[in-house]
Amino acid sequence: MNLIFLGPPGAGKGTQAKRLIDRLRIPQLSTGDNLRKAVAGGTPLGKQAKVLMDAGKLVPDEIVNGIIDEALGSPEVANGFLLDGFPRTVPQAQALDQMLQKRGRRIDHVILLEVPTEILVGRLSGRQTCPKCQTSYGKDSPPRVPGICDNDGEKLIVRPDDQPERVRQRMVEYGSKTALLTGYYQARGVVRPVDGVGSVDEVEKRIIRALKA
Ligand code: AP5
Repeated sequence: MNLIFLGPPGAGKGTQAKRLIDRLRIPQLSTGDNLRKAVAGGTPLGKQAKVLMDAGKLVPDEIVNGIIDEALGSPEVANGFLLDGFPRTVPQAQALDQMLQKRGRRIDHVILLEVPTEILVGRLSGRQTCPKCQTSYGKDSPPRVPGICDNDGEKLIVRPDDQPERVRQRMVEYGSKTALLTGYYQARGVVRPVDGVGSVDEVEKRIIRALKA
């Protein structure tokens, strides 16, 4: 199954993606996680991306297109993949079409996670993230030991782009560029809107139902 998770910052894409990949046994291809690893590694790409990410702005299409094209060439995606945070602009969606076409594949479902802005802001202001495995923790899903990742014992951090003014900028980027993708994929009949408000378990069940429908 080839899936895209679409939704505004804080909608729960990463949280739900990490659950779904275990269930479906497909890899999560997250441009955000990938870019944060490049930033942490201090690579030339990471240095270029850091300034834009910290400001809440999108990094250039060519960079993220390259990351995804390389990932789609890997044997790990033979049974499918879950794209989290990509595409985010119409040119990225068009580039993805070409990447899939040359491999004889297509998108089966676009899960659109819908959450009101005031809830998104509340979630992001309380988020802590593991710099190693990128798991997010929130007020409703805290780690077992405060400040420590359940998976690998790393010290949790607050993402620089979770500062309130950067969250606002990310919402603007989403509204002006990424939201257009709903119409792009609706025209193909693959968009599955899912109410993203409720417990993480409840939202997961809705996603499973939407995929089966
Ligand atoms: P990215 O990492 O993709 O960030 P994002 O889209 O802004 O999404 P988030 O990671 O903030 O939120 P999420 O929806 O995954 O929510 P989460 O599960 O963590 O991108 C970061 C940056 O990288 C971009 O701004 C850009 O600069 C760059 N970038 C990445 N991709 C790019 C691309 N394609 N093109 C250009 N630039 C790109 O949940 C949020 C919080 O809520 C957590 O604390 C969680 O515990 C909690 N939570 C989750 N679900 C629930 C629930 N049901 N109830 C209560 N709390 C919940």
